[in-house]
Amino acid sequence: MKFFIDTADVDEIKEAASLGILDGVTTNPSLIAKTGRKHKETIQEICALVDGPVSVEVTSEDFEGMMKEAREFVTWADNVIIKVPLTADGLKACKALSTDGIGVNVTLCFSANQALLAAKAGATYISPFVGRLDDIGRDGMDLIADIVQMYSNYPDIDTQVLVASVRSPDHVHKSALLGAHVATIPFGIINKMFKHPLTDIGIEKFLADWAKVPK
Ligand code: G3P
Repeated sequence: MKFFIDTADVDEIKEAASLGILDGVTTNPSLIAKTGRKHKETIQEICALVDGPVSVEVTSEDFEGMMKEAREFVTWADNVIIKVPLTADGLKACKALSTDGIGVNVTLCFSANQALLAAKAGATYISPFVGRLDDIGRDGMDLIADIVQMYSNYPDIDTQVLVASVRSPDHVHKSALLGAHVATIPFGIINKMFKHPLTDIGIEKFLADWAKVPK
C-alpha cells in the first residue's frame, strides 16, 4: 500500500519524507491557500522533495480551462499529476490528459458509480472522500469496499483507489484491510499512526531497568 501525504506544507512533507514512508503528495486549493504562499513555487518545492506523484488540482470548471491549467502545471515538474473534479468536464479532461500520458487523480468522489466513470475515463487514481461521507452520517469505508470490489471484478481497470479525506488512523488501517492502493494522510494522522501508549510505557520501563545495569 502506498502512503501519500495530504498537505501543501513543505515542513510537514520534509518531516514525513524523513520517516522513509512517503510515496507521494496530494494538494488541493484549500491546502495551498492554507500555506499563504504562491502556488507554482510551493508545488515546485514539494516536487523536489519527493520522488512520487504530486497531485495539483485545477480550479477551472470547464474542459478548456482545465486543460489549459493542466498543460501549465505539468511544465512545473516531472512528477506533477493533475487533479480534476468528478464532473462531466472533469471526466472529459481526465480522458484527454490520460490519453496524452499525463497522470490524473479524479477527486471529490462520493459514489461507486462516480468511481466507475473515472476508471472508464482513464484515471490513474480515484479519490473517494471518506471523512466527508462520515460527516453526513454515512460510512465512508463502505464506499472504499465497494470501489475496491468493483475494480477487482474487471482486471482491465488499472485505476488505483486513493483514499482521501482521511481523518483517523482507523481510516488508514481499514483502507489497507480492504485493499485500497493508496491513502493520502494528513501529517497529524501520520504522527498518530506510530504512537501507542504501550510503546511509550515500554520504553520508559526498559530505560528504568537499563539504569540499574552496572556500567
Ligand atoms: O485529499 C482531499 C482531502 O484533503 C479532503 O480532506 O479533511 O478536507 O475532507 P478533508
